[in-house]
Amino acid sequence: MSGESFVAASERVARWIAEYRERLPSLPVLPDLTPGEVLARLPDKAPESPEPLEAVLEDLDELIVPGLTHWNHPGFLAYFSSSSSDPGILAEFVAAALNVNAMLWKTAPAASELETRMVDWVRQFVGLPSVFEGVLQDTASSSSLTALLAARERAIPGTRERGLRQPDGGGRLRVYQSDQAHSSIDKAAIAAGIGLDGIRRVPSDDRFRMKPAKLLRTLEEDRAAGDNPIMVCATLGTTSTASVDPVAEIAGICAEQGVWLHVDAAYAGPAAALSELQHLFEGWELADSIVLNPHKWLTTPIDCSVLLYRDADAVRRSLNSTPAYLETDVEARNLMDYGLPLGRRFRALKLWFLFRRQGAAELRGMLRRHIELARGFADWVETEARFELAAPPSFSTVCFRAVPPVDHRESASLADWNGWNRRLLEEVNRRGRVFLSHTELSGRFVLRLSVGSAWVRDEDIEAAETELAAVQESLKT
Ligand SMILES: Cc1ncc(COP(=O)(O)O)c(C=O)c1O
Repeated sequence: MSGESFVAASERVARWIAEYRERLPSLPVLPDLTPGEVLARLPDKAPESPEPLEAVLEDLDELIVPGLTHWNHPGFLAYFSSSSSDPGILAEFVAAALNVNAMLWKTAPAASELETRMVDWVRQFVGLPSVFEGVLQDTASSSSLTALLAARERAIPGTRERGLRQPDGGGRLRVYQSDQAHSSIDKAAIAAGIGLDGIRRVPSDDRFRMKPAKLLRTLEEDRAAGDNPIMVCATLGTTSTASVDPVAEIAGICAEQGVWLHVDAAYAGPAAALSELQHLFEGWELADSIVLNPHKWLTTPIDCSVLLYRDADAVRRSLNSTPAYLETDVEARNLMDYGLPLGRRFRALKLWFLFRRQGAAELRGMLRRHIELARGFADWVETEARFELAAPPSFSTVCFRAVPPVDHRESASLADWNGWNRRLLEEVNRRGRVFLSHTELSGRFVLRLSVGSAWVRDEDIEAAETELAAVQESLKT
């Protein structure tokens, strides 16, 4: 392509994006599809000759868009929403054009240093002390695995060379987390050779927060049995209910027991930027590692996860491995040493565009607005006789249930409640105006609404209320 045709093509694609966004609110959030339908409509061989851009865009409209779950739809209120705001979209475009690979400082000096600076901007945004340094990873799953590998190396020095061997006497390596922790910690334990059987799932209280006394007792019992505690993971903003583990107390236990403390704040981490919520994060500054995802609640296009650590060298020591062809005599931080992948995308550009184009104050305003919208929805649930809260609302997430249509709610069995709520959710989502998700709390099938999108409007929360009320009514007949 000549420069001129590239500009024309870029403008055409930018127009396509603008038009897509304009019609997005009128599209169903979820596609009406069965698995394999899109695949069956795609040619089974790549074209031999080039096709015009218009033909590709036409197929984008006809084959791809109708087959998408639209994460940027303003009615996307499921999971923890990952939306992309304009600065991030533009930064992705530039990053692809630059296509630098920041494996070594030498292979991308400015990208390496911008990443260092952006991680520090995020650190300051959420009010953590300057002892924390970090890198960007693709996802919280990779960040937590990286932290666990560093924790394992600190607990059993030399594992990186020797590999894992069960100590004589058969003591187990142990990871501790609440029964509400995310499955990414399970996966990290699988990958790090600890195994699912090595995980201790510490019970949580009636507000879904880890019970520190139980943690301490389990740690002590395990040590007495000859086991080797590697890491405790506290979650600030759990996946089901966004509950907050008492991290200050947990940090005290970890310090006393000499165990690595990892904090999973993948979703809620950005909320530490709000002065009125800082009490929820008290003690996280004592962690050895912290993960938070700008691609969840900070409107950065997926993927972008910040991994912060207290002892940068602990991570480097556990993972660095430099073949001859990557040796350099430049004294600088090589980002490949702080994670598993060698090749690294230029993710820092997304944070740079985001902070510069929106500013920290506007980002804080957005977080507050999301929390307010979620509180408004929780108030609606509380005033509706046909719905009830299923957990205390936390940050911008609300767990709730619909009351099945029985004369006396006490007479409904758990199966009645679960069956009713499952049907209700299916029908609300089938209608396509909003997308909600579910979780399970002590055997209860629970509905979840989580606000976090750059595109959400007041009317989308109202639409969720209207849809829920209408479907609750219609299912009765
Ligand atoms: C608390 C928590 N931690 C970790 C993750 C995993 O995030 P990622 O998709 O970035 O690996 C999630 C995903 O929702 C989460 O809720």
